[in-house]
Amino acid sequence: MKTIKQLKVSSPSSNYSIYFGDNFVNSFSLKKISNSKEIFLIFDSKLPDSSIRKIKSFIRKSKPSKFESLKFTANEKNKSIETSQKIIEKLIDLKFSRNSLIVSFGGGITTDLSGFVASIYLRGVEVMHIPTTLLAQVDASIGGKTGVNSKNFKNMIGAFKQPKAVLIDTYFLKSLSKRHMAAGYSEIIKHALIDDMRLLSKLERFGRKLGKRTDYIDLADLIKISSKIKAKIVEQDEEEKSIRAHLNFGHTYAHAIESVQSFKGLNHGEAVGVGMLCAAKLSFLLKKLTVKEFNRVKCVIKKYKLPTKLPSNCEPQKILKAMEMDKKNKNNNLRFIILNGLGKVEIVENVPDDKILNSIKI
Ligand code: GLY
Repeated sequence: MKTIKQLKVSSPSSNYSIYFGDNFVNSFSLKKISNSKEIFLIFDSKLPDSSIRKIKSFIRKSKPSKFESLKFTANEKNKSIETSQKIIEKLIDLKFSRNSLIVSFGGGITTDLSGFVASIYLRGVEVMHIPTTLLAQVDASIGGKTGVNSKNFKNMIGAFKQPKAVLIDTYFLKSLSKRHMAAGYSEIIKHALIDDMRLLSKLERFGRKLGKRTDYIDLADLIKISSKIKAKIVEQDEEEKSIRAHLNFGHTYAHAIESVQSFKGLNHGEAVGVGMLCAAKLSFLLKKLTVKEFNRVKCVIKKYKLPTKLPSNCEPQKILKAMEMDKKNKNNNLRFIILNGLGKVEIVENVPDDKILNSIKI
């Protein structure tokens, strides 16, 4: 019997559970989650055949009256309105009804796109996520943010759509590269830095195991602790009207880095890693973090093989300009989430340009 842990998430629009474990999907019953008999699977074409077979057999076990799937190449270009429309046309052709369940199987691009389709098809059908990257397991699959990119900007079109359930199975991480694992750790580190000193110490200890045999049971626990932090925040502020913004720690820098590199350089998790270090430097410059605390942030980022320097094509002036551009797009002020000591955050605005530029020089 596989160990399956459960975390309940209660947000104003819905209650759902996140299930955690290692290689548990095949011993899990889909009926526990949804009564839907019409299931549409959306999956990333880059996943190994063995993982796809596993998910299809998990779905077939629930004896759906209708089961169809769609494979797409998950990349930023395909995370678009056009792909969403193609999927919706297929759902219409296949006569999927309002009682359908969409199952997403892939990384953050797949969960965002599938969640978006589920939020608009017939004004909304159920969606369940089975994330296959560490980043999607600890971040994208939780909290109901869904969306696609506009022609030039990320996630400009979307909706909040809470899932029916999330299945977090560390089995699927076994085919992930070290680089993509590191990208996921950056969001776990973020949760520790903004909220949980015990998790920070755990990460500092757990990091020693990296590169040796990774213990997926420990990892499932680590993911659960991290997800609990995200769940606690989104339960209080589902639509990012207040404290959900804390989850953007390091992201003002990260989005600017990704955009300066035209999304072809550091991946999102890596950009968040170095972005958190810049945000920690800003916290130090604003006298909210000691040099010792800043060094602790740097050490943990380094330990998880995330970058601690900006790429050479990311000159501070370019980053500042990209931040300003992002601010204009979203029609808000240039805001930074900074640390007020480790494990605590605050939001600051009107930061002088010289301090921002200095924070990028890490
Ligand atoms: N990734 C940040 C959030 O879900 O709000």
